[in-house]
Amino acid sequence: VAKGELLYEGKAKKVYRTNVLGVLWIAYKDDATAFNGEKRAVLEGKGALASRISARLFALLTECGIPNHFLGLASPTEQLVREVAIVPLEVVVRNAAAGSLAERLGLPEGEALPRPVVEWYYKNDRLGDPLVNEDHIAVLDLATPEQLGRMRQLALAVNDALVPYLAERGIRLVDFKLEFGVTANGELLVADEISPDTCRFWDASSGEKLDKDRFRRDLGGVVEAYAEIWKRIGGDDGWS
Ligand code: C5P
Repeated sequence: VAKGELLYEGKAKKVYRTNVLGVLWIAYKDDATAFNGEKRAVLEGKGALASRISARLFALLTECGIPNHFLGLASPTEQLVREVAIVPLEVVVRNAAAGSLAERLGLPEGEALPRPVVEWYYKNDRLGDPLVNEDHIAVLDLATPEQLGRMRQLALAVNDALVPYLAERGIRLVDFKLEFGVTANGELLVADEISPDTCRFWDASSGEKLDKDRFRRDLGGVVEAYAEIWKRIGGDDGWS
């Protein structure tokens, strides 16, 4: 597979066409952004770590029979994925209170939720990705009720796959964000990325944050934390 024309450059990734119909090439960048792009930095090595962690976790989804876009790594920072039209929703699954949920509902950070909570956010930079409900989604025609039901079911299946896998490796999955996409033949796939950029990963015993909150909150040691996650989930993807 050969890399083709640049289709899109986002905050953390570049997306290219390839010479294979329906296959895209994604290059992870070292750029870190937070608060809707207001805070920025270049963190050397972050792109490769996020890409490799995401590749490993998507491979786990495939092993669990969860349909997703990931095909393989082309290099530590580059991936081949199936082409999809991204559904303009960020689907957040939470196992414990943190971040915007802790703030909105006044719950202490780290308090376990009695069951997973699924939330929808409208992907719209201009509006700052607002929280939306199923009526808002219908009115804005962002997804069909069938797609919403399927996304909720798949998001919870991803949680059920990730929680025990990470727990065995000393990592508490506090919450994470998924994106979904639709292929040319209408298949709904888990897409985008699953990495410390999009998940809250805490050390299971100390509660130490091993994710992007280190960047958001100026805690330092961002790349070191991502490297620790990579080490714990196996490390060897054949690229040394
Ligand atoms: O900020 P909030 O608590 O709503 O984030 C919930 C989860 O979704 C966190 O794991 C965060 O990293 C992720 N997220 C993301 N991209 C966003 C917003 C949140 O990956 N634009």
